[in-house]
Amino acid sequence: MAGVTLFEVGPRDGLQNESVLLSSEDKVFLVEQLMDAGLTRIEVSSFVSPRWIPQLADAEEVFRQVQRRPGVELSALVPNEKGLERALACQVDAVAVFMSASETHNLKNINKTRVDTYPVLAPVVTAAKAAKKSVRGYVSTAFGCPYEGEVAITEVIEVSMRLFEMGIDELSIGDTIGVAVPTQVEALLAEMEKQGIPLERIALHFHDTRGTAVANAYAGYQAGVRIFDGSIGGMGGCPYAPGASGNVSTEDLRYLFESMGVTTNTHLDKLRDAARWLSQRLQKTLFSHDSQVAHAM
Ligand code: HMG
Ligand code: MG
Repeated sequence: MAGVTLFEVGPRDGLQNESVLLSSEDKVFLVEQLMDAGLTRIEVSSFVSPRWIPQLADAEEVFRQVQRRPGVELSALVPNEKGLERALACQVDAVAVFMSASETHNLKNINKTRVDTYPVLAPVVTAAKAAKKSVRGYVSTAFGCPYEGEVAITEVIEVSMRLFEMGIDELSIGDTIGVAVPTQVEALLAEMEKQGIPLERIALHFHDTRGTAVANAYAGYQAGVRIFDGSIGGMGGCPYAPGASGNVSTEDLRYLFESMGVTTNTHLDKLRDAARWLSQRLQKTLFSHDSQVAHAM
């Protein structure tokens, strides 16, 4: 069966909510381990306000130190033109802009209404494309908002279409607080297709708060999505989304797909090594299901 791409968000989403700060050297070592494990798309950091996310204030230093490898895309989140300038100065391969489907999470996370966010992001996408960078967009709270509860599909479609109109190459649909169930995933993807959004340009970004992330990934795969965001060890969460736990782990996604005969081009032992190393560094038990199996062996 054809393969899927596991898009690694651990160094960014995984670390942005942690109380233990990793050194820049440790972050670089983490990215190197992830590349060793075969991952070819890695979100390394964020060029956001260091006041908002102090954990990733050293994005420049991490990009300066990391050794690039051919065929590996190292990307970063950028919230505005200042973030893009910083990212371009670091020769990132790709950037990601982000906003939420729900108004309150957008306000809490980036301090703007949705309507006020579009004019901030549009020039960022244009300038990133002019600099020949590929651009990912994120639509957060696509399946539920920590402040507003249910989020209507029409809100998700509206934000997604606006991001595509700006010129993003790929859209990652975020279940920021891990509330989604497979029927919701099917319904949203069906509506996206109906609106003319090709599913080759969609990625799915699940947090695993309620243990539904792998089921959701399977629903997405069945619908035709082939890019899945995971975080090593299942670390992760948005500091401006209370109650959210870690992302679905890269190891659990790998288990799902490889066991179904869908290739991921990643090495389990190396993923586990990286996850174990990270849990020691963060002094934290891993959130992944795989860690329980790996532990028992
Ligand atoms: P603001 O305070 O409204 O910004 O924050 P501002 O434009 O008014 O500027 C205030 C100060 O911040 C100024 O400095 C700016 O220069 C500085 P001062 O003049 O006062 O000294 N500033 C910056 N500094 C460095 N880099 C920048 C930058 N921008 C402004 N890029 C802002 C607005 C968007 C900047 C802020 O709200 C922010 O950084 N938010 C980011 C929050 C965040 O990173 N959240 C987590 C990522 S999203 C997520 O996790 C979801 C996802 O995983 C998908 C899912 O799960 O759904 C992607
Ligand atoms: Mg996330």
